[in-house]
Amino acid sequence: MRIITTVAEARSLVRSKLRVLVPTMGALHKAHAELIRVAREHAGRNGEVVVSIFVNPLQFEPGSDYERYPRPEEVDEEFCQNAGVDFLFHPNVTEMYADDRSVFVDESSLSNTLEGKSRPGHFRGVCTVVAKLFNILAPDAAVFGEKDFQQLAIVRRVVRDLNFKIDIIAVPTVREEDGLACSSRNQYLNLEERKQAAVLHKALRAVAGASEKSAGDVLALARKVIKQAPLARIDYVELVDSETLQPAEMAGPNTVLVFAVFFGKTRLIDNIRLG
Ligand code: PAF
Repeated sequence: MRIITTVAEARSLVRSKLRVLVPTMGALHKAHAELIRVAREHAGRNGEVVVSIFVNPLQFEPGSDYERYPRPEEVDEEFCQNAGVDFLFHPNVTEMYADDRSVFVDESSLSNTLEGKSRPGHFRGVCTVVAKLFNILAPDAAVFGEKDFQQLAIVRRVVRDLNFKIDIIAVPTVREEDGLACSSRNQYLNLEERKQAAVLHKALRAVAGASEKSAGDVLALARKVIKQAPLARIDYVELVDSETLQPAEMAGPNTVLVFAVFFGKTRLIDNIRLG
């Protein structure tokens, strides 16, 4: 595996093979292993799997966990090596952003709701860094997890509206044994919070298969289950159309239940398609 830290070096990679990118912020875990596995499946034995690790300051809203976000660099490098990654792009902040940067990528519709409402500026940061990674690494395809359902929809919109010639591959959410979605932020949870966080998957299972039910009924059910965990503090629970991300009135095949819930200071998100 070759480790690349500069944009110039990344640009100089001759692109003769199918290249599949897995963009990450590091602190790699088994969900990332699955993204890398899918990337390899897509690239084939002769293709190139590129992982980027960059904790992107632009997508952390003020007062959030940018400083304390885990950065286990050596462990991550070994993880990529063992996962059969060909190139690891691991730039620092000054390599990625000029001090006087003044151009950003703003998605102005899907970003206004859900995570975008709770985390102003977050998707501007995501869209900007993803567009930069696409330009720097020139992949044919890029792999994203369905846990970040809204991010996935927005990245697809960026690709469509800015005409990136890149296939976006969605990978189903990878879960721990008790159903909690794998996330680098799970490690912030203390033992009791971690135990109670299993209620999130219980809520998803409770509403799974709900069809022809009113949004009110589905949301009430999800909230009721989540509230069984005394430490859970709901940020939002919503039923939305999977394309527009606008609130849906009835549960059905094109709807997704999405939520963000705090356990202590840790904010966890998850979702399930209904119908
Ligand atoms: O999902 C993530 O880890 C990040 O938002 C991404 C896509 C790597 C951009 O920083």
